[in-house]
Amino acid sequence: MYQNCRNCNADLIEVVDFGKMPISNAFISQNQFSDEYFYNMTAMVCQKCYLFQLLEQPNPNILFHDNYAFFAGSSNSMQKHFDELSDELIDKFELKKNDLVVEIGCNDGGVINYLKKKNHSAHLGVDPSKNVYEKSKEKGINMMNKFFNIKTSNEIVKEKSKAKIFISLNTLAHIANINSVFEGIESLLNEDGIFISEDPYLFDVLEKVSYDQIYDEHVFVFSVTSMNNLCNKHGLNLYDLKYLDTHGGSMRYYVSKNKNLPKTNNFNYFFNKEKNIHSNGMEVYKNFNSNCIKSKTNLINFLNEQSDKKIIASYGATSKSTTIFNYCNINTNQIKYITDTTSTKINKFSPGTHIPIYDYDYFTNNKPDICFLGAWNHSKEIFKKEKNNFSLNGKWITHTPEAMFINDF
Ligand code: TMP
Repeated sequence: MYQNCRNCNADLIEVVDFGKMPISNAFISQNQFSDEYFYNMTAMVCQKCYLFQLLEQPNPNILFHDNYAFFAGSSNSMQKHFDELSDELIDKFELKKNDLVVEIGCNDGGVINYLKKKNHSAHLGVDPSKNVYEKSKEKGINMMNKFFNIKTSNEIVKEKSKAKIFISLNTLAHIANINSVFEGIESLLNEDGIFISEDPYLFDVLEKVSYDQIYDEHVFVFSVTSMNNLCNKHGLNLYDLKYLDTHGGSMRYYVSKNKNLPKTNNFNYFFNKEKNIHSNGMEVYKNFNSNCIKSKTNLINFLNEQSDKKIIASYGATSKSTTIFNYCNINTNQIKYITDTTSTKINKFSPGTHIPIYDYDYFTNNKPDICFLGAWNHSKEIFKKEKNNFSLNGKWITHTPEAMFINDF
């Protein structure tokens, strides 16, 4: 277990102790209930570099394995997002035929799938989970089935070349050995190389009390401050930012190997905003702690009250809802079932609190009175799909910023 900051080794300060937590994506069968794995989930922040991190992360081999349950392909809006970013790489960074683009955690395709479709053959995906690696291979994407670190980076340079672009979408936050990843990025990029990362944005989590962004896979939740500190340490230049509404509020970080690229207004805006907040010491983190406790009480009371009279189902068996259900101790007393479209989750049970997961046909034939938006980060896509179906008669509830009914997203 880490006692000090994974980046700078300074002391960590406890932010929220979420208690006993199962593996967020370990959707299990009934015969696995008795030997389910639990760890203690405690969110900490570094008092020196402000890197927000978990105290303990389960062994990565338990998280990213041959049967990893998350497929990015299951979300149309994320596919559109990947497609758009691939256009940006081609146009904004004037990608040439031989410019290597490396994407880590590309899952079942990612951005490089769209580069491949646009005939950019100098691409490489790196993903440690065998099943998603194979899905990408089937699509004809060049892949490596590995964790990314300095060793993998050296192998890529030796076997292929240095890279013009390095992409990490919702992956960097998953890798505890963050210094080795940054070393790998720095040595892989060529002199005009660009590194682009997208991750849930810490100040959204703090403001929206969306504590469900915190789970085993997210060993870090980055802020501009902590990302900038990491980049500086590794000789990289964080020069631009783009705020995104994906995953409930994310930040896209543009980082250059060239240290002379000037900082944009966008960078200065977010950097100074955070600097201001941190000028009050750790107050923002203390407030988050009390807001999480309030949010928990509020959600339990709300669901208990509603489930007395109504049938509630949860829409989307997400990693995020594992945090909510376990932190708030929500089980079949409140939520009768979860509906999800991912084949590996259907007919299994949610980690820890064991709510059954059924497919979309079951949902259409057994419509609940109320849907809890487990996949609240995909709410726009879900609402579009359900506005002529569930939304006509049923009601939606969300937990963020507080437990409430919502009519429109
Ligand atoms: P995620 O938040 O970890 O991306 O997981 C989203 C889950 O929600 C994934 O298992 C697929 C599921 N889902 C549905 O079941 N229906 C939908 O319409 C959408 C957008 C997602």
